[in-house]
Amino acid sequence: MAVQAATATSQGTTPETPATTTSAVSLGPAAALSCRECGTRFPLGPIFACQECFGPLEVAYDLPSGDPESLKKQIEAGPDNIWRYAPLLPVPADVADKPNLNPGFTKLVKADRLAAELGVTGGLYVKDDSGNPTHSFKDRVVAIAVEAARAFGFTTLSCSSTGNLAGAVGAAARRAGFRSCVFIPHDLEAGKVVMAAVYGGDLVGIEGNYDDVNRFCSELIGDPLGEGWGFVNVNLRPYYGEGSKTLAYEICEQLGWELPDQLVIPIASGSQLTKIDKGLKELIQLGLVEDKPYKIFGAQAEGCSPVSTAFKAGHDVVRPQKPNTIAKSLAIGNPADGPYVLDIARRTGGAVEDVNDEQVVDAIKLLARTEGIFAETAGGVTVGVTKKLIENGRIDPAKSLVVLNTGDGLKTLDAVAPTTGPTATIRPSLDSFREAGLG
Ligand SMILES: Cc1ncc(COP(=O)(O)O)c(C=O)c1O
Ligand SMILES: [Zn+2]
Repeated sequence: MAVQAATATSQGTTPETPATTTSAVSLGPAAALSCRECGTRFPLGPIFACQECFGPLEVAYDLPSGDPESLKKQIEAGPDNIWRYAPLLPVPADVADKPNLNPGFTKLVKADRLAAELGVTGGLYVKDDSGNPTHSFKDRVVAIAVEAARAFGFTTLSCSSTGNLAGAVGAAARRAGFRSCVFIPHDLEAGKVVMAAVYGGDLVGIEGNYDDVNRFCSELIGDPLGEGWGFVNVNLRPYYGEGSKTLAYEICEQLGWELPDQLVIPIASGSQLTKIDKGLKELIQLGLVEDKPYKIFGAQAEGCSPVSTAFKAGHDVVRPQKPNTIAKSLAIGNPADGPYVLDIARRTGGAVEDVNDEQVVDAIKLLARTEGIFAETAGGVTVGVTKKLIENGRIDPAKSLVVLNTGDGLKTLDAVAPTTGPTATIRPSLDSFREAGLG
């Protein structure tokens, strides 16, 4: 999503928000919105771009200052979902009592067979976010946006989506009692379309790619037609993004409150990657993990690789591309957080790499064959890029490595269906089975 020059409130007007930190709403430890570019602070509200410099806004906190061990204990005694981290999120203290899909605390799988295949000796883990309520990591970001939408009095939830987000918003809206109307490119996979429609909210296919959908939503947000609408990844984007921090928290907690040495994360808009970095930094700041270096690697599909192209060329500017890849969930040609992803990859000593569609399919099968995890194409991109980065020496196989699987293979069956099927089709007789040579 491109950072929009004109911010709009739920009333469709341009807010004249004073540069003060006094917020009318209360969202737990969230103190204000702060500009990533110039640091100007604004009260908590449904705005996403700085009125001084148009930079993106993010949530700034008054984080807990007490003993890290008692904070750890408080978290560990919390529910088995993202609300165990409520003291670090922009949500009300009683969030766990509200109707929400309660995503998170998905499995961190020690992937020894995949490690053996890739030559990793330092410990390889797959964070399997296909286990969320609508089978992608998007349930995390939507859960936080829902709480912000409640606080700001929105009645309709909306989004521009590459597929997974539309399903996550559709489901969360139903559960939390909002109307929903979500927007997707018209040519998505059947699994994504059905998942977005089945909850009964409105689903609109737009003739164009994701960047067209996103432009349309930015227009709608400033129009009376969009009054009272909370677009989770536009006017609620600062809150939405914070949901991805929970991936960082969970990974470290599941590793026994340890930072991994290396992480590989898929990139569409880049929000997830930047917020995982933010979450890791917070854990260090709070003393919940030991302060040591970690490297963040970004993964894209070759057919939509604006960030990896800029990384490899040594550029700071991300030039938009027209996507053409089977990894449709990652098909954002003009990624809003692209420059920040470049910063993080360079600052941490990581990299951004891409793989082609054939490598994506091979990687989906590799993960399924070695670990019994069926990933969607985004997971194939991430595993494929991991393999490539090990082969080209960017990832150190002797150090610990966490690879994210952010979505479920059942939503992108078409990617593997042409090359996956029965080993044999036989008559129901032993002779026929014997002839197939499988005994
Ligand atoms: C399965 C999956 N993984 C990763 C991403 C990337 O998310 P971001 O836009 O935060 O980079 C998406 C985005 O739609 C997705 O659907
Ligand atoms: Zn600014």
